[in-house]
Amino acid sequence: MSQKSLIDPHGGALVNRIADAGAASRLSDEAASLPVVTLSTKQACDLEMIAIGAFSPLTGFVGQADFKSICENMRLANGTAWPIPITLAVDDAVKGSLKVGGRAALKHSDGTLMAVIDVQEIYAHDKDLEIPNVFRTTDEAHPGVKAVLDEGNWLVAGPIDVITVTPEKQPGEQFTEHRLPPAKTREAFEKHGWKTVAAFQTRNPIHRAHEYLTKCALEICDGLLIHPLVGETKPGDIPADVRMACYKKLIENYYVSDRTMLSVMPAAMRYAGPREAVLHALIRQNYGVSHFIVGRDHAGVGDYYGTYDAQAIFDDFNDGDIKITPLKFEHAAYSKKAQGMVSGKTFPKLEGDQIFLSGTKVREMLKAGQRPPQEFTRPEVADILIQWAKG
Ligand code: ADX
Repeated sequence: MSQKSLIDPHGGALVNRIADAGAASRLSDEAASLPVVTLSTKQACDLEMIAIGAFSPLTGFVGQADFKSICENMRLANGTAWPIPITLAVDDAVKGSLKVGGRAALKHSDGTLMAVIDVQEIYAHDKDLEIPNVFRTTDEAHPGVKAVLDEGNWLVAGPIDVITVTPEKQPGEQFTEHRLPPAKTREAFEKHGWKTVAAFQTRNPIHRAHEYLTKCALEICDGLLIHPLVGETKPGDIPADVRMACYKKLIENYYVSDRTMLSVMPAAMRYAGPREAVLHALIRQNYGVSHFIVGRDHAGVGDYYGTYDAQAIFDDFNDGDIKITPLKFEHAAYSKKAQGMVSGKTFPKLEGDQIFLSGTKVREMLKAGQRPPQEFTRPEVADILIQWAKG
């Protein structure tokens, strides 16, 4: 596949909302006398995504015209494709402390001052518009729906100027060495001489099926970006630090080091299936990626979405709306007869031939200290997961 230079960011230009040292110090002084909005974990993740340009062309939390247009048409009000509203929800008390035309300090829950927002609008949070459109369900048991229902009833909109995306006391690892903003992954791709890059989104350890998709993609692209989501995930998902240990071990043992890059993606998971697949693709375009892997039930949860809904949704856009190319993969698994990874496209379905393990079964095996079969997961990865499962 040939391409002259790296793909353009979504909307044309890469946003950077991180203030330089001088501006940051002025913002900190100003913030001392501003009303405060304490961010939820999801909002702090979104703030980082905006700040580093991963959500380009967004420069802040979206206003009402964009909110409505995104929910109804998967576009910003100016027509640019955008599938999920990035909002700053607040409750009545916080709303009462803010003024349209004023400014507010945005703080992490640990108290770190992260940014200042220009409050351009405050409007009612139309959850009845957002939830069924974004999630295709109103079921409160859906973790993304539940998160929106739990949010405040007002949305604050406006551009942000960011002092830091690294809170002082944030629990867990920052993965600093692997936390490259889009401008830096772009530099790295150029340094490698990669013109086409495939990205792999994941919130799980990389099992054999995942590995297969990444390697098929790498056969047709110059490089591979393993780009795990490390922002907020739901309880029960494997923590990011454990996953990072798995990714590193796997790359060390099973990938070609100068064709593969590991970097983290700090967004929060919404479990919005199809719409989130589009968001995930646009984010990767901003990181300089030309091809994006979308497999079975991408960003799905439970059985809210059809197996390939997250692939079909790309057909709802016009040519040119989304520049990054989705690489659509069918459900893959190991076939005993073929002695390798297959999908319904490459090998006939035979009764009992494919090795399939449910998430529950895998967790049970790990807890019992048993490695899942190596046709399902690499032993080096299984050992890290066993250690973690044992606590
Ligand atoms: S996700 O929430 O990030 O989508 P996960 O980490 O499980 O969840 O999946 C990462 C990517 O691999 C997604 O594109 C998903 O569709 C794809 N995928 C996961 N398992 C399979 C499989 N067995 N066959 C094909 N695609 C898969």
